[in-house]
Amino acid sequence: MAVRLFEGKDHAAAYLQFRVAPRELISVIVSYMGKRTPKQFNLAVDVGCGSGQGTILLAPYFPKVVGTDISSAQLEMAPINSSAPNVSYRQCPAEELPFASGEVDLVTAMTAAHWFDRQRFLQEADRVLRPGGCLALLSYTMDMELEYGDVSNTLNDICKEFYTALLPFRNPYIGSSSHKIYLDMFDSCSYPDKEWNECLHVKWTLPLSGYIGMVETFSSYQKLKVKDPAEAERLSEDIRSKLLSAMKASSPDQEVTMVVKYFYWLACKP
Ligand SMILES: C[S@@+](CC[C@H](N)C(=O)[O-])C[C@H]1O[C@@H](n2cnc3c(N)ncnc32)[C@H](O)[C@@H]1O
Ligand SMILES: *[C@@H]1O[C@H](CO)[C@@H](O)[C@H](O)[C@H]1NC(C)=O
Ligand SMILES: *[C@@H]1O[C@H](CO)[C@@H](O)[C@H](O)[C@H]1NC(C)=O
Repeated sequence: MAVRLFEGKDHAAAYLQFRVAPRELISVIVSYMGKRTPKQFNLAVDVGCGSGQGTILLAPYFPKVVGTDISSAQLEMAPINSSAPNVSYRQCPAEELPFASGEVDLVTAMTAAHWFDRQRFLQEADRVLRPGGCLALLSYTMDMELEYGDVSNTLNDICKEFYTALLPFRNPYIGSSSHKIYLDMFDSCSYPDKEWNECLHVKWTLPLSGYIGMVETFSSYQKLKVKDPAEAERLSEDIRSKLLSAMKASSPDQEVTMVVKYFYWLACKP
C-alpha cells in the first residue's frame, strides 16, 4: 500500500489503537499451537506487519519474533512503539521470506494477506514452516457497528451509508469482500488440520472521532482522499454530524462502543 496511513492526530491514534489484532486473538493462536507442539516456540514471523502493533503482541511467547513488510515507510515506524529485544523487522515481499525451509514455528498475517499474491504467499509460508508449525491469518470485516444507548440501529444505518459511499473506492484487487478472499485461501490450504473461525466480536470504547478516524484508515477512504480531498472531508463531516445528531450529542469526543467482527483461520503443517 503506497498510501500514507498516519495523517492527523485522531487518525494516527485510531490506527495505533485499533488497527491491530486484539490480544484475545493472539492467545487463541498461541493456545492452538501449544496443543500441538508445546515445546517448540522459537521463531514467529509476522508477515505484512506494517508498523508492528500486532508483531509486538507475539513477543511474550517467542524468543525470536520477526516482522516483515514490503513497505520501508511502514517499517520505519515499527521500532518507535513496537520494540522489544526479541523483536526485529525485515523488509521483504510476503512471497519471498528470508528464512530457511522449515525454520519457522509460526507464520501470522494480520489484516494483510488479502494484499499479497495469495497463492505464492501460501507456498512460501509452507516452505518456511517446520512440520507441526502453524499458520494464522486474520482480518476483520469493514462494517464495524456502533452501540450507543437506544439509538444503535439508527447509528448503524448511518454507518452503512459511510461504507456504501466508500465501496466504489475499494481496490479491485481485494474486491468488495475480503472475507471471501480468506475463505478461498482457507479452502486452498491442503493441511488436514485447519480451522475457520468468524465469531470473534471485539468491542472497543472510543470517542466518536476515533471511529471516524478508524474508517479513514481504510484503503478505500485513502483512495477517495487522494482523488478528491474535499469530497473525502465532506463525507466524513456529513457522517460525523448525522451520527452526532442521532446521538443527541454535541462533541465528537463523546464515547461510543465499536464492535469489530474478526475472522481468522488457523492451520498446522503436517
Ligand atoms: C493493513 S496493513 C496491516 C498492518 C499490520 N499487520 C496491522 O495489523 O496493523 C497491510 C500491510 O501489508 C503490507 N503488504 C502489502 N502487500 C505486501 C506484500 N506483497 N508483501 C509484504 N507486505 C505487504 C503493507 O505494506 C501494509 O503494511
Ligand atoms: C521478549 O521481550 C519482551 C520484552 O523485553 C519480554 O517481555 C518477553 O518475555 C520476551 N519473550 C521471550 C519469550 O523471552
Ligand atoms: C507512539 O506511542 C505514543 C504514545 O501512545 C503516541 O503518542 C505516538 O503517536 C506513537 N508514535 C508512533 C510513530 O507510533
